[in-house]
Amino acid sequence: MNKLRIAVVADNEPLIKRIAYHLNLNADWEAISVSGVEDFLVKPRDEWHAIILCYDFKFLDSEDCLELLRENYQGIKTVHVVSQDNEADYRDYLSDEQILDVVKNDDVLLDTLWNHAGVIHRGQSYSNQISHLKKTSTEVQILEDFVCTSPEMILVRNLMNKASNSDINVTIFGDTGTGKEVVAKYIHHESRRWNNKMVAVNVSAIPTELIESAFFGHEKGSFTGAISRKIGYFEEASSGTLFLDEIGDMDIRMQAKLLRVLQEGEITRVGGLGSIKVDVRVISATHKDLKKEVEQGNFREDLYYRLLGLSIKLPPLKDRGEDIILMSERFIHDFCKKNKKPLKYLSDCAKVALMSYTFAGNVRELKAVIELAIVMTDTQTIYAENLNIKSDFQREDFFAIERTLEDYELIIIEHFLKKYDYKVRFVAKKLGIGKTKIYDLLQRGLLEMPKPKTEPEDELPDQNNF
Ligand SMILES: Nc1ncnc2c1ncn2[C@@H]1O[C@H](COP(=O)(O)OP(=O)(O)OP(=O)(O)O)[C@@H](O)[C@H]1O
Ligand SMILES: [Mg+2]
Repeated sequence: MNKLRIAVVADNEPLIKRIAYHLNLNADWEAISVSGVEDFLVKPRDEWHAIILCYDFKFLDSEDCLELLRENYQGIKTVHVVSQDNEADYRDYLSDEQILDVVKNDDVLLDTLWNHAGVIHRGQSYSNQISHLKKTSTEVQILEDFVCTSPEMILVRNLMNKASNSDINVTIFGDTGTGKEVVAKYIHHESRRWNNKMVAVNVSAIPTELIESAFFGHEKGSFTGAISRKIGYFEEASSGTLFLDEIGDMDIRMQAKLLRVLQEGEITRVGGLGSIKVDVRVISATHKDLKKEVEQGNFREDLYYRLLGLSIKLPPLKDRGEDIILMSERFIHDFCKKNKKPLKYLSDCAKVALMSYTFAGNVRELKAVIELAIVMTDTQTIYAENLNIKSDFQREDFFAIERTLEDYELIIIEHFLKKYDYKVRFVAKKLGIGKTKIYDLLQRGLLEMPKPKTEPEDELPDQNNF
């Protein structure tokens, strides 16, 4: 993107010059000091991507300032610098979507503003990418909240758009917490069915004896306890979408019934006489390898092909590169705002720690780690040690023993090999080194591969496998 243009506005000229000078040390943004609100208001609005407003105006009080911003600068992020003593009075303003933070004019003011400019800058490049990818029609919040700028996730986004533009069944694969439900919601909201319901059903949570009535409904008196007529998920989702979560856990007898409904497009309520036409699009999700389930006889092959349609595989969070930082900043922003806390930011070391952690619980775990860190951290900066994760690269541990550069290199390569399942070519690309370097370390016995079960002990795996 172009340079981030930041207006630094106040009556106090030395202060704004000091802020602008400091921010301009970063070549990615351009801070311009504007002396007085009156001067600021005559400049064209679209000159700015962000505004830093220092509240010391001689002729304007805070309420009027806010009013002006709301009226004239909608959508432009602002940071408000207030005096040390009255900071708490301004906290309520944080509920205003436009206000990124209210900060004290204290010793760390320049660092704080530097970090905020970074957050706005990254957010800005993100929204540029999003608006580039976005369909011209409806804008939905789900899309705004869905972070997907890594190459792996751009591919996913393209598939999501293909799915939204058609009525084909969709199957979403991914480990726990990778965002399967968010993806399903997105596809539904962007599809032609958006103004009808999406009914989400966790298949594994329905007791076997109730499953048929849950899906197809029942007539009054059809079994003990059926005290009135009840419609099932298929009818409820009529003209909309049925989201079948954990489809890999569906009872095998129910699979046969589901297949029939999908083939015939009609259901019969339990105890009912006639069949009822249903127009439902099915999106399924599972953390299991469904193909393997078919091979093992746990999942019907015919149903597998009926449901599969367009399949979307969500990568684990550890493979999403910078998305991890973008998501973290988004979660920090949302959580601080919701809890009316001053905006916090991640230290460089914390970012490295997050990027090198394996996140078994994926995005859900990241969210929990960030929220806990916000609660537990008293400073405005979240340091690596505030994160409840055990990363190889937490600075204290990593640098506690002084090593040679070559040893550090070995530790880093080994860490990434483990993280990316020993895919040499992939790791070499990630680290920006030649793959021969890794093979050389393997040959010299400085790095070890896990021993493949079928191969002799002392043989290296075939290099073409990577
Ligand atoms: N790309 C993303 N950007 C921002 N937030 C995300 C993203 N993906 C997932 N989330 C958030 O992560 C959390 C988990 O997502 P979701 O429930 O969709 O995962 P899931 O794959 O369905 O998990 P499970 O397998 O446990 O059911 C939610 O709070 C969701 O909003
Ligand atoms: Mg889910």
